[in-house]
Amino acid sequence: MDIQSNLDAVCDILLAANSVCSLTGAGISAESGIPTFRGKDGLWKTYRAEQLATPAAFIQDPRLVWEWYDWRRGIIASKEPNDGHKVLTEWETLFPNFALITQNIDGIHQRAGSKNVIELHGNIWKLRCTAENTITENHEVPLKESPPHCEACGALLRPHVVWFGESLDASILQHSFQLCATCDVVFLIGTSAVVQPAASLPLSAAERGAKIIEINPDPTPLTGIADFSFQAKSGEFLPVLNEELKKRLYK
Ligand code: OAD
Repeated sequence: MDIQSNLDAVCDILLAANSVCSLTGAGISAESGIPTFRGKDGLWKTYRAEQLATPAAFIQDPRLVWEWYDWRRGIIASKEPNDGHKVLTEWETLFPNFALITQNIDGIHQRAGSKNVIELHGNIWKLRCTAENTITENHEVPLKESPPHCEACGALLRPHVVWFGESLDASILQHSFQLCATCDVVFLIGTSAVVQPAASLPLSAAERGAKIIEINPDPTPLTGIADFSFQAKSGEFLPVLNEELKKRLYK
């Protein structure tokens, strides 16, 4: 099938769908200029994310880990949402039921205007007290104090994100699986689909008969189960799909 036939087929599915989910990864923010985790710009100094985003790295050298997060916060703060993020904000009202589940911690979906974002891996703009687990928002760039400490009790603060080797918030994960269990369509956008349990969400939806639509310039381990795989950049492809959809809805 050519691209137009695939687009037509996807529009037919979407217009008949009662419930649509979208699982996003770092690739959706790539066109905003934010390096992906596993892409060529994913290194900081000589470190890979897997070496710094761990409880062990934080215990060993909280200053280094915070220096890395401060650097990433600086990059994110200087970038703007792209057209891919913007389309997903429109989909909150376009579909009767739309869920946006993201692995991203950058908060850019919210900045684009998405109101209901399910953050599987936390948020880089939230800090958590290592003693009391209280969560505060902090948008300082750069941080005034690095590593930062809790104003209330003086303990070290950590980023409110999920690190390698840590569990995801059980209620957020359960809610995400419920959404995937009952939806008709899952979009898989800009994720390498190698990190669990996030990568199991589309699989669980596919097992229950949902259509899987992947948007990624490169193939992933889930490309094989996708009903449609568009090898394209999300910031370019999503606006095209959105226009096609709106043409049909408002004709
Ligand atoms: P990755 O860096 O693993 O993958 C990014 C994906 O985006 C790749 O498959 C790219 O091909 C794709 N991509 C690149 N540019 C794109 C574009 N313009 N449009 C669409 N896709 C594009 O990032 P994630 O899959 O998000 O976890 O990584 C998953 C998790 O691993 C992250 O949430 C993080 C990381 O370790 C934690 O921190 C717990």
